[in-house]
Amino acid sequence: FFRSVVSPPSSNFLLLGPSGAGKTAFTTLLEAKSSPASKTSHSTHTSQTSTLVSVSLPPTVPTASNRFRSVNDPSLKEAARNPIRYRLRDTPGHGKLRVSQGLSELQSMSQSKDVKMKLRGVLFMVDTAALVDETTLRDAATYLHDVLLVLQKRALGKGKSSTKRDTEIPVLVAGNKQDLFTALPPGSVREKLEAEIDRIRKSKTKGLMDASMDSEVDGEEEVLGDDDAQGVFSFKLLEEVGIKVDVIGGAVKGDQEEEIGSGVRRWEEWIGMCL
Ligand code: GTP
Ligand code: MG
Repeated sequence: FFRSVVSPPSSNFLLLGPSGAGKTAFTTLLEAKSSPASKTSHSTHTSQTSTLVSVSLPPTVPTASNRFRSVNDPSLKEAARNPIRYRLRDTPGHGKLRVSQGLSELQSMSQSKDVKMKLRGVLFMVDTAALVDETTLRDAATYLHDVLLVLQKRALGKGKSSTKRDTEIPVLVAGNKQDLFTALPPGSVREKLEAEIDRIRKSKTKGLMDASMDSEVDGEEEVLGDDDAQGVFSFKLLEEVGIKVDVIGGAVKGDQEEEIGSGVRRWEEWIGMCL
């Protein structure tokens, strides 16, 4: 029988994360992999505007709908001829541009009723070699906290009873620069971000309690994770509201000996599972 390997025409992913994480380098790499003939080179200095690129998934990367396909499956050949495409929006990570670009992009894409703008997933990229620095860690965690809060508000706003599975927006924390020997392994990136978000959340809760002394403050949707914020924050906590967070390491600039782009394979597999 005929099984379509054509992806929905509108699979959008949003690429967020602090400045210098490697977002534009990643976007450029995906573009180069998608169309080897054309030479695409975005400047790798600090981005000031966001860009939307259309790229393709390598045919060997499974998607949610074809993951049980065997290597002999004729649809694999078909896929090679007609690769699954998706769109990726690269945003500037600079602190001053986050609210006006990254976060507002997230707001509008995640709320959009237009199917063409349907957001399939959010990639939040961090430089895993830079997170040992406390200021850098706090900056990244603050941004990630704000991103997750937008998604939580969206999830809770939908009404708990009628949330459809396919409206959930998963988050990939892409731990970049694993090629550097000073890079933290993904497990410790996860722990550091969780611990830092816990601190941010606790100080926010305290602020809300102080504020509610004289005014009515509805803190329920304002705090990330469970509302009383008693326990320690973990990404797992967000699964209750339907936000799945994965932390996966990789490298845009890889080992010279490896095949170009092999360092981003696991992120592409994550993208494939969202399609
Ligand atoms: P903004 O546009 O300011 O938000 O930053 P960005 O996230 O787009 O970072 P960009 O892609 O400009 O990369 C910043 C620097 O990191 C560049 O010099 C890249 O060459 C470098 N870089 C990106 N990925 C890797 C990697 O996997 N390993 C190493 N060692 N360097 C990388
Ligand atoms: Mg950039």
